Amino acid sequence: ITIAVIHGPNLNLLGTREPGVYGSVTLEQINNALEQLAESLGVRVVCQQSNHEGVLVDWLHQAGANSAGVIINAGAYTHTSVAIRDAIAAIQIPVVEVHLSNIHKREEFRHHSYLAPVVIGQICGFGPTSYLLGLRGIIQHLQPPN
Ligand code: DQA
Repeated sequence: ITIAVIHGPNLNLLGTREPGVYGSVTLEQINNALEQLAESLGVRVVCQQSNHEGVLVDWLHQAGANSAGVIINAGAYTHTSVAIRDAIAAIQIPVVEVHLSNIHKREEFRHHSYLAPVVIGQICGFGPTSYLLGLRGIIQHLQPPN
């Protein structure tokens, strides 16, 4: 099975972007770690990043047609985008929301996620490990042990 990993705005700058908040690991390193874990779990990940809201909506639609599930870090669109929320609600596959930082202990405007009500669950605060936990979580959700 294939899991789509969708990274939103500014995540292409990971490694140099506010390292005090987001650490020094690059997006490429996160994607490599996801690919490695996916291989060990017998699944495939396809990782994509865009700074553009509509592109993220398009990718969610494509994942709905081609993938078994989605892991999304929508970045700041988490806190603003009804369009991304509606795209998640529209597709028939499970979606897990992840964040590097713990959005609930940061500025007030980051506490609300438009996506949270339409995803399986949200994982935040574990840095790059949030993505790996998200992958484990969605696989468990798709292939529950007996
Ligand atoms: C983020 C948290 C968001 O509030 C922020 O806008 C980001 C990154 C995270 O991964 O911690 O761009 O989604």
